[in-house]
Amino acid sequence: MKDDNFLREMNARHLWHPMGHPGDARGNPPKIIRKAEGVNITDIDGNDVIDAVGGLWCVNLGYSNDAVKRAISDQLADLPYYSAFAGTTNPSAIEASYAAMEFFAEDGMERIFFTSGGSDSVDTALRMARQHHRLKGEPARTKFLSLKKGYHGTHWGGASVNGNNRFRIAYEPLLSGCHHLPSPYTYRNPFDETDPVKLADKIVAAAVDEIEFQDPGTIAAFIMEPIQGAGGVIVPDASFMRKMREVCSRFGILMISDEVICGFGRTGDWTGARHWGVKPDMMTIAKGITSGYYPVGGVLLSGEVAEVFETAGADGSLWTGVTYSAHPVGAAAAVACIRETLRLRIKDNAASRGAQLHEGVKRLAEKHDVIGDVRGGHGLMTGIELVGDRSGKTPLDAETVKKVHQAVYDAGAMVRIGANNILMSPPLTITKEETDRIIAALDFGFGEA
Ligand SMILES: Cc1ncc(COP(=O)(O)O)c(C=O)c1O
Repeated sequence: MKDDNFLREMNARHLWHPMGHPGDARGNPPKIIRKAEGVNITDIDGNDVIDAVGGLWCVNLGYSNDAVKRAISDQLADLPYYSAFAGTTNPSAIEASYAAMEFFAEDGMERIFFTSGGSDSVDTALRMARQHHRLKGEPARTKFLSLKKGYHGTHWGGASVNGNNRFRIAYEPLLSGCHHLPSPYTYRNPFDETDPVKLADKIVAAAVDEIEFQDPGTIAAFIMEPIQGAGGVIVPDASFMRKMREVCSRFGILMISDEVICGFGRTGDWTGARHWGVKPDMMTIAKGITSGYYPVGGVLLSGEVAEVFETAGADGSLWTGVTYSAHPVGAAAAVACIRETLRLRIKDNAASRGAQLHEGVKRLAEKHDVIGDVRGGHGLMTGIELVGDRSGKTPLDAETVKKVHQAVYDAGAMVRIGANNILMSPPLTITKEETDRIIAALDFGFGEA
């Protein structure tokens, strides 16, 4: 490894980073994170802070899970790679498919298709939804519905159903036939509705209106996150997903639950759909399936959807997949990670520490006017919307948001910024004392606004 001077000198010189300005990064280079242990990360300057981001909503088991690390290195020794395109497979992939199916059985999922991450999973699910309808004799069902504020990755399909325009505008035109419903975002919505139940009902009514306008026979799928993550931790009313499930069933539309963040315990339940008592037709997963230690994603299908493919003629073949689908090392990581996830019952800790973080931030809102809205309370996902003035809800300016971000870091916690929101999704193994330290760092940071 080159020395620290080299790393500092070359930081962001040649490497373009996702979701940032490559020119700006040359002047304001990113923090170099060198090491991690437990729930802490250490940068090249020796700052040791709690990672309230969990890597990127993914390091559910924290950074020191030896069982997952060992599974990866053992698998590297035995079989570092082999293709899983039709004709060959590998033992870890078979084991991982079994473990995943046990994990998601209660959600009604019976088959899995492995990918390299969340964006792959979303695009694959959208393709499978179209193919499913074609196989059922409804080839006109090609359109997709989704929610504003939703995040579904950056591939063309995911970007097309994405509900945050900063991920869309530079790349348009996107897929045609993608239509967006309002988000269950009580703080800001076109209905000016602050009651979550009434807002849910209005969105459901808007969905029915849109479906009838489009013609139900043209819509393939509706995709949603059970709790919207990257869009600002937007928690719908408990009735919302269930009501949308009913609408989807009524109109023959497949419901895809995007569990890339919510899956594997983040919401305080093993899946987001289960948290709301819903059985979707398909699920997309990534992140927590390997705790971020290896890039793996997956598409899950209900028995009913799977049967359409498995009993079809030649047209049931899947002409989609990636080189790293069912990668043996990723699959070994997934097997170990699912085992550890269950053994440690991290969903229970997510529920209690999530409540602690949410309550702690709500107390900070009594003290700091810069906090416009606090969202969460369902597992370890907490969002704080920052405003310049509370009555006008004017988003806090980017410079001050940056200042708060750095001050929180200086006080001992890494948080994530998404526009004027602070987003937090710490490892699900975090302790009570570590959670208090995040709240204390936020308190300091808001004081600097
Ligand atoms: C809900 C959701 N879907 C899809 C994705 C895309 O996943 P990836 O970044 O692994 O491609 C993300 C990423 O954060 C996500 O939060």
